[in-house]
Amino acid sequence: MSTIASELNLILLGPPGAGKGTQADRLREDFPLAYIATGDMLREARAQGTDLGAQAQEHMDRGDLVPDEVVIGIALERLSADDARDGFLLDGFPRTVPQADALSEEMANLGRRITAVLLVDVPDEEIVRRISGRRVSKAGRTYHVEYDPPKHPGRCDVDGTPLEQREDDKPEVVLARLKKYHQATSPLIDYYEKQGLLRHFDGSLPPVEVHDKIRATLATLRLEDEL
Ligand code: AP5
Repeated sequence: MSTIASELNLILLGPPGAGKGTQADRLREDFPLAYIATGDMLREARAQGTDLGAQAQEHMDRGDLVPDEVVIGIALERLSADDARDGFLLDGFPRTVPQADALSEEMANLGRRITAVLLVDVPDEEIVRRISGRRVSKAGRTYHVEYDPPKHPGRCDVDGTPLEQREDDKPEVVLARLKKYHQATSPLIDYYEKQGLLRHFDGSLPPVEVHDKIRATLATLRLEDEL
């Protein structure tokens, strides 16, 4: 029996453009989880012109990772907010082994544990196609011109604001992001596999099928938790 009630503390892991944000949007409709997306937080800081945003900008525009000490600080601070007390969904954090170690330490300090790490995997060749067709709303809702189009072209279904292309979605930056993923982030697959937390999903399936499979896995995990 688990020592912790059926709190869901989830991590979405996977290459850039694999569909982490897309699945996060759907999971947030299923479960009342605090959503912690470090990429969104950094883009928000840039938009607001804060020191953090200025620090992050050059790394993000190159397709590089923002330094661990910066990202660990903002992610753990967000994790300690009230709304994250009963469960959270981390998207884009951790992304390096030092970040994963810092998260483990924080969870141990709080007497909490990660429920599962959801790896959404997609081959590299599909990533560029996906990212080049991605469009996002001001509030961060994601679409794809071909695979997941909005009802009215160029407008968000939810708030009607114009859809835009992200600055780091240019092909040369995408290749740098992919390289960085394989170098710095993919070791986390083994890291969490060894802890028995990794759940693998084929992200090349249509979004609705990926979502169904994640939901089925989470339902099983919750049942196991209650045994
Ligand atoms: P971040 O914003 O986290 O970007 P990312 O991980 O590169 O992931 P993306 O947002 O590009 O893709 P996604 O997997 O969410 O895919 P999506 O659902 O949009 O990070 C940006 C930058 O911030 C980093 O490069 C780094 O500089 C910095 N940063 C952030 N966190 C950091 C950290 N922890 N440490 C250091 N630096 C950090 O889908 C992509 C497209 O495909 C969409 O158009 C979507 O509609 C479509 N799609 C989705 N699923 C499917 C499907 N199943 N079939 C067909 N199309 C699909």
